[in-house]
Formats: sequence, C-alpha cells, structure tokens
Amino acid sequence: MIKEIFKPNPEFAKDARIKNMCEYQELQDEAMRDYEGFWGRYAKEKLEWIEPFTNVLDESDFPFVKWFEGGKLNVSTQCIDRHLGTRKNKAAILFEGDRGDKQTITYLDLYNNVNRFANLLKNEFGVKKGDRVVIYMPMIPEAAYAMLACARIGAIHSIVFGGFSAEALRDRIHDANAKVVITADGAYRKDKPYMLKPVVDEATKGESPVEKILVVERNNEKIEWHEGRDFSYNKLIKNQSNECDAEPMDAEDPLFLLYTSGSTGKPKGVQHNQAGYILWAQMTMEWVFDVKENDTYWCTADIGWITGHTYIVYGPLAMGATTVMFEGVPTYPDAGRAWKMVQDYKVNQFYTAPTAIRVLHKMGEHEPLKYDLSSLKVLGTVGEPIDPAAWKWYYEEVGGGRCPIVDTYWQTETGGHVISPLPGATPIKPGCATLPLPGIIAEILDKDGNKKEPHETGFMCIIRPWPAMIRGIWGDKERFVKSYFGDVKQNGRGVYFTGDGANYDEDGYITITGRTDDVINVSGHRMGTAEVEAALAKEDEVAEVAVVGKPHPIKGEGIFAYVVMKHSLKDSRFESYEAIEKELNEMIKKEIGNIALCDDIVFVPGLPKTRSGKIMRRILRSIAKGEEITQDISTLEDPSIVATIKSLVK
Ligand code: PRX
Repeated sequence: MIKEIFKPNPEFAKDARIKNMCEYQELQDEAMRDYEGFWGRYAKEKLEWIEPFTNVLDESDFPFVKWFEGGKLNVSTQCIDRHLGTRKNKAAILFEGDRGDKQTITYLDLYNNVNRFANLLKNEFGVKKGDRVVIYMPMIPEAAYAMLACARIGAIHSIVFGGFSAEALRDRIHDANAKVVITADGAYRKDKPYMLKPVVDEATKGESPVEKILVVERNNEKIEWHEGRDFSYNKLIKNQSNECDAEPMDAEDPLFLLYTSGSTGKPKGVQHNQAGYILWAQMTMEWVFDVKENDTYWCTADIGWITGHTYIVYGPLAMGATTVMFEGVPTYPDAGRAWKMVQDYKVNQFYTAPTAIRVLHKMGEHEPLKYDLSSLKVLGTVGEPIDPAAWKWYYEEVGGGRCPIVDTYWQTETGGHVISPLPGATPIKPGCATLPLPGIIAEILDKDGNKKEPHETGFMCIIRPWPAMIRGIWGDKERFVKSYFGDVKQNGRGVYFTGDGANYDEDGYITITGRTDDVINVSGHRMGTAEVEAALAKEDEVAEVAVVGKPHPIKGEGIFAYVVMKHSLKDSRFESYEAIEKELNEMIKKEIGNIALCDDIVFVPGLPKTRSGKIMRRILRSIAKGEEITQDISTLEDPSIVATIKSLVK
C-alpha cells in the first residue's frame, strides 16, 4: 500500500535546526565517516565540562562501553546553572495542578529550589555520591527538584511510577538497595485527593534498606509519621541554603536507574550514566521538537516513565526551554482540559501517547475546535505504533493540518529518541517512525545480522553504541548482555536488539511492528507477561496461568489471561467465577498496580504445551484475537485442548 506523504511546511523548515533532507544526510554521512569525530564535536559544543574528556568512545569491553572518558561534569549544572546568565528570569517549569493551581518556576527559582533540596539530602539525610534514592512522587515540581538535587550531589535516583503497588515499590527499593525514599503525602486526581505515603509505609514494612523518608506535603491529608524515619520536606527545606556545590561527576558515573519490564518476572533496573545521556537528551529535544527560545513545550507523560525523565525534565531543561508539568489528567474536568491548557499556555510543541490521543478523540471529536490551538507548531507521539484513525484526527483536528507529527520511536534503554522524523526535514508517512536520527546507526536485521529487504519484518537493531545507550542492568551484568546482545550477531559481535520487529518500505522508511518477545504494550507502557503471570500465580487456587496481549481499541493492547484452577469451582473456596476474577485482579493490584489489571480472564482446563512442556503462546495469542489457528498443533502434548480453549473464549 502506498502511504500518503506529508511534506514539511517550507515556512517552518526555513527556521528549523535541520532544514531539509540534504542537511539530514550530511549529518548522517558525517557520523558514518567519522563516528567518534561526530559525537566528540557535539559533546564539546553542547555540554559544559568541568574537565574535558580525553577519549570519545571506548568499545574494548563491548557491550560495556565508555563515552567521553576523562571528562567531568554535573547534569544539574547543565540543566540549570549554565542558563542563569541569559535565562535567569525565563520560566523553566510551568506547573498546573489538577485543581487548576498554577506556579511559574524560573531558572533562578529552579536553581534555589534544587540547591536547597540537594543540601537537605546531603546535610540532613547524609546522602552521598553513588547512594540510591527512590522517588515515588506525583507530578509536582518537587519531583523535578528531587531528580535534579540527586544529580547535583551525585546520588543515583530511581523513580518508581506512582501507580505501582507497595509490592512493586518494595522490589525496586530492595533491588537498588535504596536508603532514602522521597515521596508525598499524596496529590490530587480528578479533584480528589489520593495517597502515596501509605504505599511507601507498606513497602518499607519489616526488613528494609530504607533509613529515611522525605515527605512533600501536597494534599495535607492525614498520614502516619514514623519518628526518626519520616521527615517533612516542607519543614526541613526552610532551613537550607540556596547554594550547594555541584559534585564533579565522571562522564560514566551512573545518573539514574529506571526499572522496566523484561521477558522474565523480575523488572530490570536500566542504568543510564551522566554525559552521554544528557547530551542526547538535549540534542534530540533540539532536533526533534525544534523548540525555539520563546517557545513553550508540553509533554503529558508522567515522570515515572522514561519519557518524563528525558522529555519533561532533563532534555527541555538542558536546552534551556520552558517545560509544562501537569498533575492532573487531560480528560478532567472534561475532554477539553488538554486543549484549554494548550490555549492558555500557548503551547508550541505538544507530545503525548497514541492511547491518550484515542481517548481524547473518543471523548470529543470536535472538542479541539473550541479552543485556539494556533500556537501549536509540532505534535509528537510516543510509546506504541499510532493507528491511522488516531493519526488523522491528531493531524487535522488538533494540528489544524499544519503541524508535522513526529512519531518518535525509542525505549527506556535508548535514553532518547532513536528513530523519528525531523519536523523541518522529513517527509512524513502516517504510522511510520521514518528514519534513524543523525548519529544513530539502526538497521532491521535477521538473527545473523543480514539486512532485511523492504517489506520483510526483521529485528530492529542499533549497530553501533550511541551515547545515551543503557549502560547496564543494575546488579546483573550477565542479564544485560543476554537481554540485549544475545539474539542478533553481526561479524561475530552481538548487536543491540530492541526487542521490536520492524520493516522498511521502498524508501527505506522504518515501520515498527511491535514487540517480538513476551512483553505487551498497554497504553504505551511495557508490561512483562511473566510479571503478570507471577502475580496471578500467587493466588493459591491457581495451578497454571498464561498471559498474552490482545488488541484493545484504547489501550493499544489489553491483558488476556488464561487460568487453570487447582480445583473445580465447587471444590474451591469460591462461589462463582466472577468472585475468582475479582480476587485475581485484587492480586494484580497488590503485586503490580492498577496498570496491569486483566481485561479478560478465561478459565481453562489446561494450556497448549509441547511435549517438552513449553506453553505455545502463539496459539493463545491467536485464540485471544479470534484468529484462525494456522500453526501445526499436532506436536502438542494434547492437541484437543486447542478446540476446548477456543470454545471457552467468547
Ligand atoms: O515496543 C516499542 C514501543 O515501546 C517500547 C518501549 O517502551 P518503554 O521502554 O516503556 O518506553 C516507552 C517510551 C519511549 C518499544 O520497545 N514504542 C515506543 N515508541 C514507539 C513504539 N512503538 C511504535 N512506535 C513508536 N513511536
């Protein structure tokens, strides 16, 4: 199928940082010709070094690579101090609370707040360089201060999304061996208070590495205070000084951990380091969103995910932009909330996920027309493939047919965008992430490292290490090598494999087709099927369980669970299947959080397994989707189970 092509607007392109495909190609050629020269040039140009680096890239211990060795810098000074000369009174963060309360935080305010926060952590809590600090926070400015304060003193932050349960939080605290947790009493959603601190209390019950908990009092609801362990940020911050020396950090010191799902039950602590990460966060902000000095940029993600890290906090602040931060949900009090904010703040670049676009579309087809959205210049999407209906609505109703849509493909592990259109240069095809960004050598390969022909699906790989690449899985070197460099080899060396399938079209444009592993993408969030299975298996009546993804009109993919019970319903302690379903979802809420609730649970007498006991998930996926079974089922231990399961799935 030939896709419609949307060429960049010449007016926009005129002032864009990358103005046309020739400029794009020149940069990509430069990187190909002299990879280290290319990156070294940008690292010198874009970052402020305390000590210059002596070597651009060391691959001698691949895949454990080192960028910009010898260099020292501090990420908080990249994001704040260096802007004070020219942008002291410019808004760094424009905050809007769920209830409409507003704050403008200038770069000078940010400097003062972050330094005070850093002093608090250092002087009151004894946090030192290399210590791990877990942040379990709502979307309030203090969350950004906490991240930058950790960066200032060299502590490694690990943000846990506020929707995760106590159990999930406990696992992440223990894996990182964090001695401090920063949280809030709670916050507001849809005009109602919700709580976070009680979840932290639960997660730190019993044996815990956590010594101190800092609580930002946001909603002032009643919480328990544990003497000697829990401290009020609002009280302690008053005594702190506005000056805190930034710790000189080695280019390859860790900056943060962010846990993400993999194909086994245990989440992976993805590690990002200082210089390479912040360099790419800034470069991609500049290239992909093309934010100008007086622009206002808004990314609707939560700071608990990588998008919030790179494109609400680090990227925008590193380039000295104004970033909007929003506590609430874009559909409350009505479907026009997001559009009203775009109008009120005169947002120029708006970045969100296809799932949000689908919800907003469904709730208000022509809602955007009620607002003045003429400030918008670039629209972005991230997290999952965008379907044609959502793309069209976003382009026409939101962007007025005038704004390019940058479909940014990347992952927690890539640190920043890797495949994306450039708004002033790339002719766009809807649903297509288009081409690798300059400096990223990405190809679609087979497992032997051969490049795929157009329209053949293969493995989406990145051939050479890039500065913002994941540096490791916290505490598990072997899993790092195996997870990312074990599947595809080229010239005897492992190549970084993203876990996604993709194909080229006749122009070499890349379309991402989705995960090839046991990971499902629910509302743009990665969910390991093994994690959900492990949670369901904790229910003692469950004998066996298999979880697969199923297309969902809003979430992209929904969670579909096949459950084998130990006893028949009448021999179990339950009165109905509905009661079991309820209990299983309660278990998920407890073990993971609401984000992993099952959309479908089907009780089956057995699962399709090979004679060696391997569950044939492909068959289960096909049944969940209502597809014909085309696979050979004769090798199954019990082929008749397929028909039985099919008859049970509505
Ligand atoms: O499957 C890809 C999908 O999201 C996965 C990464 O998830 P996570 O690490 O949680 O980061 C999400 C935000 C960057 C990828 O492996 N994905 C991300 N962006 C796109 C996408 N799939 C298609 N198109 C995209 N633009």
